[in-house]
Amino acid sequence: SKQVAILISGGGSNMVALAQSMTGDHPARPVLVLANNADAGGLQKASDMGIATAVVDHRPFGKDRAAFEAALTRTLEQARPDIICLAGFMRVLGTEFVTRWQGKILNIHPSLLPKYKGLHTHARAIEAGDDQAGCSVHLVTAELDGGPVLGQARVPVFPDDTPDTLAARVLPMEHRLYPEVLRRFAAGDQTVVNLS
Ligand code: GAR
Repeated sequence: SKQVAILISGGGSNMVALAQSMTGDHPARPVLVLANNADAGGLQKASDMGIATAVVDHRPFGKDRAAFEAALTRTLEQARPDIICLAGFMRVLGTEFVTRWQGKILNIHPSLLPKYKGLHTHARAIEAGDDQAGCSVHLVTAELDGGPVLGQARVPVFPDDTPDTLAARVLPMEHRLYPEVLRRFAAGDQTVVNLS
């Protein structure tokens, strides 16, 4: 089966959803959860699930993003992943990293791409008066949040929404969408998934 590494920065709820999905006849298995921050809450959740964990702290590298990415790659090479899932991984990855793992990196982003690349997606959707929001899973290229979309899930935006209430509506959809896209991707299927 395919080996999956999951990169996180925080609580790791998407990581948990992905890891829990990879059982039975699923074509992939989790081999590593890697955080850029030793405080990431998802690390404990991963070890509780019996998944190997690693930390590559970005801070000692300062502005040297290439050196941070080389360290990430060295750690990943020991796990030999076929697929790398970014799941709330809050560091931008540059050309060298993306080239090394080309075609193998997936990301989940909390907007209906191509809208709202980058940060503060829910605040921007509310500010724009959008009546729909959601999340996207895409292949990672060197263009930030710009790679081909493999799946999207939509939710309504209500007039009294705040970024927090909207995030609370989108997150459970992330937990459905990302495992569904990963299952297909691991089986070689890149047809686009739409959930609502
Ligand atoms: C998720 O909403 C994910 O889409 C978002 O961070 C959250 C992580 O939550 N990712 C980004 O904003 C990427 N730029 P989690 O740690 O509970 O999965």
